[in-house]
Amino acid sequence: MKNVGVDGSTTLKVYESRGGYVAARKALAMDTNAVVEEVKKANLRGRGGAGFPAGVKWGFLPKDRTTTLLCVNADESEPPTFCNRVLMEHDPHQLIEGTIIAAYATRSQVAYIYMRGEFHEQFHVLQKAIDEAYEAGYLGKKVLGTDYALECYIHRGAGAYVCGEETGLIESLEGKRGQPRIKPPFPAIEGLFRRPTVVNNVETLSCLPHIMERGADWFTGIGPPHSAGPKLFCVSGPVNKPGCYEAAMDITVRELIERDDMGGGMLSGRKVKAVFPGGLSMGVLTVDELDMKMDFEDPRNYSLLGLGTAAAVVVDDATDIRLVLRNVARFYGTESCGQCTQCREGTSWMQRIAQRIESGAGRMEDLDLLLETARNMGMMPGLSICGLSDGATYPIETIVKKFRPELEAAIRSQPAGQVEAVLQAAN
Ligand SMILES: Cc1cc2nc3c(=O)[nH]c(=O)nc-3n(C[C@H](O)[C@H](O)[C@H](O)COP(=O)(O)O)c2cc1C
Ligand code: SF4
Repeated sequence: MKNVGVDGSTTLKVYESRGGYVAARKALAMDTNAVVEEVKKANLRGRGGAGFPAGVKWGFLPKDRTTTLLCVNADESEPPTFCNRVLMEHDPHQLIEGTIIAAYATRSQVAYIYMRGEFHEQFHVLQKAIDEAYEAGYLGKKVLGTDYALECYIHRGAGAYVCGEETGLIESLEGKRGQPRIKPPFPAIEGLFRRPTVVNNVETLSCLPHIMERGADWFTGIGPPHSAGPKLFCVSGPVNKPGCYEAAMDITVRELIERDDMGGGMLSGRKVKAVFPGGLSMGVLTVDELDMKMDFEDPRNYSLLGLGTAAAVVVDDATDIRLVLRNVARFYGTESCGQCTQCREGTSWMQRIAQRIESGAGRMEDLDLLLETARNMGMMPGLSICGLSDGATYPIETIVKKFRPELEAAIRSQPAGQVEAVLQAAN
């Protein structure tokens, strides 16, 4: 984020004056395989949610391909997540330079930036930067005066969460409904327009200029070996300074909330009750689990799905956990694309059960019903086409397991006859 907050940071002139496009020039003077090897050596893990190493993913492309397409995932649809937005809004040329390096390394002819529909401002900023890059010869028929040609387009989505999933994104880009594809084949073999395709996140690509300029050893020198390089973290909720902060991945959730140069602590009179540290889909932590490291490995020690988007939303002690449960369940109930029966039905069952509990008509058995529904969903047990349903179950499961005493107490204290009244009204 070195250019964030600098006057004129979105312009080519300022970007170049601060060392911009030197890395792309360096990369284009190298053999494409050497660029891939450098990125592998840096162990650049994808920042879009899954943490898959970028260089390894590029290595899955068929050796004898004639066409390759690059999709830049700028959908950023995970709740409380806005790292990509900051990068596009304040430093669009860094993303363009990263895109050029990735496209060159993967021998891509076209880069499509798939952007969330709600990003109006960011769209105009990025389009202006793309126009400048074309004019300066960084994009187009002869990139940096070489024989390498790269076209770059922004495609705006309509705002569906599932279009952030890479094959949902590809379908949407092809002009179809954003419904994820069954894999295999994976996009590297058969992706956009059935061509070998690479999908990478905005933040992942924004790391590339720095890796090329300073080298893989510099990158691996930051943070733990399995989670190398700088990372952006979002903090939102009742903290003094909600925002997007850059740090190495050995930072803890507690530091992110409390450090003066980050969240700045809780608002006066508020205390932490729960934190969703990786966007909603990774699950929840209790106040006793704030020493979790925000890296790619530690979240699993806390029954979470992973680091996700590293966007922490803090819930304070005045919040009824039933409201949180209902809010989370409503999101996934609305966003399931409906192709897989267990995801379509399961997310809406969970939504209705959570709604019942929140309305004060919960039954004790509803808690186990939520857990059983969650156990019967997901790509990991092999039941669904995409990971949305895993992401739907982790927050529900961890809320029910980690906050069960509070949920049980709330159900026990409901007015007599409430359950019967609500069930009767529903019938
Ligand atoms: C339901 C769902 C939504 C997703 N949304 C996004 C998103 O908004 N942005 C993103 O980069 N990745 C998202 N992903 C992950 C992508 O499928 C893919 O792993 C990622 O774009 C790859 O880029 P990376 O390797 O650079 O992280 C989502 C995945 C799922 C299952
Ligand atoms: S898991 Fe859910 S969101 Fe993903 S393809 Fe199946 S129904 Fe659609």
